[in-house]
Formats: sequence, C-alpha cells, structure tokens
Amino acid sequence: MKHLLKLSDCSKDEILDILNLADQLKYEQKHGIAHKRLEGQTLGMIFQKSSTRTRVSFETGMYQLGGQALFLSSRDLQIGRGEPAQDTARVLSRYLDGIMIRTFAQKEVEDLAEYGSIPIINGLTDYCHPCQILADLMTVREHKGALEGLKMCYIGDGNNMANSLIVGGLTVGMEVTIACPDSYQPDPQVLEFAKAYGDKFSMSENILEMAANADVVTTDVWASMGQEEEAAARRKVFEGYQINDAVMEAAKESAMVLHCLPAHREEEITAKVFEAHANEIFDEAENRLHAQKAVMVKLMEKK
Ligand code: CP
Ligand code: NVA
Repeated sequence: MKHLLKLSDCSKDEILDILNLADQLKYEQKHGIAHKRLEGQTLGMIFQKSSTRTRVSFETGMYQLGGQALFLSSRDLQIGRGEPAQDTARVLSRYLDGIMIRTFAQKEVEDLAEYGSIPIINGLTDYCHPCQILADLMTVREHKGALEGLKMCYIGDGNNMANSLIVGGLTVGMEVTIACPDSYQPDPQVLEFAKAYGDKFSMSENILEMAANADVVTTDVWASMGQEEEAAARRKVFEGYQINDAVMEAAKESAMVLHCLPAHREEEITAKVFEAHANEIFDEAENRLHAQKAVMVKLMEKK
C-alpha cells in the first residue's frame, strides 16, 4: 500500500493487517510501551472542511509515533485560492513525509497521490471516509470478536459513510444492508462493487427489513458537510430513517450501535438509543486514533 485513498483499493488482507497493527498500537499506548515508529517525520493535514475527531486523532497519533503534524487550513493555503492540487502535491512532497487531506472532491485526493511523491491519506471526501470505517471495523471486532459473517445495517443517506461501509464491510466478509430513500442511494460505482457479493448485500426503503437480525446498526447525519442549504428539505425526506427502539427490536438483542459522530439526536438516532450504546460509540471514536496510527505506520515507516 502506498496511499489510503479509498477502501476499494485495499485487499481484505491489507485491511486486516491495519486492524491487527491498530490493536497492537492500542495495547502499547495503554501499557506505556513506547512505539516511536515515525520519529522525526512530519504529516501535513489539509482541511477544506471542519473536523473534531480527524484533526485531533491524527495530530495526537503523529505525536505518539514520535513525529509531528501540521494543521493546514485551506483558508490559509494557496490551494484555497485556486493553486492546483498537482502543484501543491509536488511542493509539499519536498517538505513533508505524508499528507492527510479532508476535502470535497475525491479527484483532489487522487490528484495529490498522482502528482506527489509521499503517502496520501483520505481524511474524508464527499465520496468516502476510509479512516472512519477502519475504526468502525476495529470496534466491531473488539466487541464481537470477529467480523466474518456478521450482519451490518446502515440506515440513512447513501453518502460517504454508506459508500465506505459497503466496501469495507463486504471486503472483510460481513453482510451489509442499507436502508435509504430510493433517491438517496450510495454511489453507483459502490453499488457496482457490491454486485459481486450477491446476497451478502441488500438495499431497500424498508428499514425494519434491512435491520432484521443485524449484529451492528449504524447511521450518519441526514445532511453532510457542504449540504447545509439542503438541511431543511433533507429533514423531510429522511424522517423515519432513524435508529430507534423499533429498529433495535428488529436487530439482534445483542446488536451494537455505531455512529461516526457528530450525531443529531432525534434525527438519525434517538437520544435513548444513543445513550444506551454510548460505550460502543465512544470506543469507535477512540479507535480513530489507533486505526489511523496503524495506517500512518504502514504507509510512512522507513524500513
Ligand atoms: N467522524 C469524523 O470524521 O469526525 P470529525 O468530522 O469530527 O473529524
Ligand atoms: N457524512 C458526514 C460524515 C462526517 C464525519 C459528512 O460528510 O459531513
């Protein structure tokens, strides 16, 4: 692996390798065992959108690995004034050891990888959120002991999270179901990817049918970053696409709940279900740190 641009670039073994290393790094962190595997290295973090978890977990992770991270807001960079990604990539490759970027277009991330000469990590685009799904899979494995054969149900917008959950879940051997309105389905490329998995993938507007017997239930905001003006209209379309008591009744009694956060209580999830599963949801948030440290070590460690 040279970059982490999207999960469909990763094999099952590559994903499992990252999760295994993430477990090890989490153990080392919790037990005070030093793991300065990126000593002297610098990660540049370009943000064209807001972030709490991604920014803080990458910055802290880089510090724990013995390196440092630079927060680069697009408001201050020339990229925000139109300097092409191709030039930014070639310049930053002369200073940095790796780049994490959060932006709108997936093409911008792919361009950085094509024109730069250092590892590029996708910290969320409109198309996908691979770092989040690695943390999600790590959390499921921690709580359930395995991934293969588990059923994961996503309820809501067919957005970046849905796209990455489908690809990541199917790749590691899970069954994935998506409950979303017909006009807000996941990306066509992702649906094409899912076709190869036959009945391990299903999608419908019938929420309870999709949630039936699920081991993992997950959701995301109805309006993503960049869709603020659509928020009122989306609130109407997505009404009912919510993790609530009825969904939890349909799922297995032992089902866990994930939410990438930030959460909108009483929209995509009720406060009651959120609080009942807060332990899993905040483990998931913590695991962003460990999963991303594993990604950085895999991509940036000098052998
Ligand atoms: N889940 C997630 O990516 O959170 P932030 O937007 O806070 O980084
Ligand atoms: N779908 C959300 C995820 C935030 C982590 C967004 O893109 O805003």
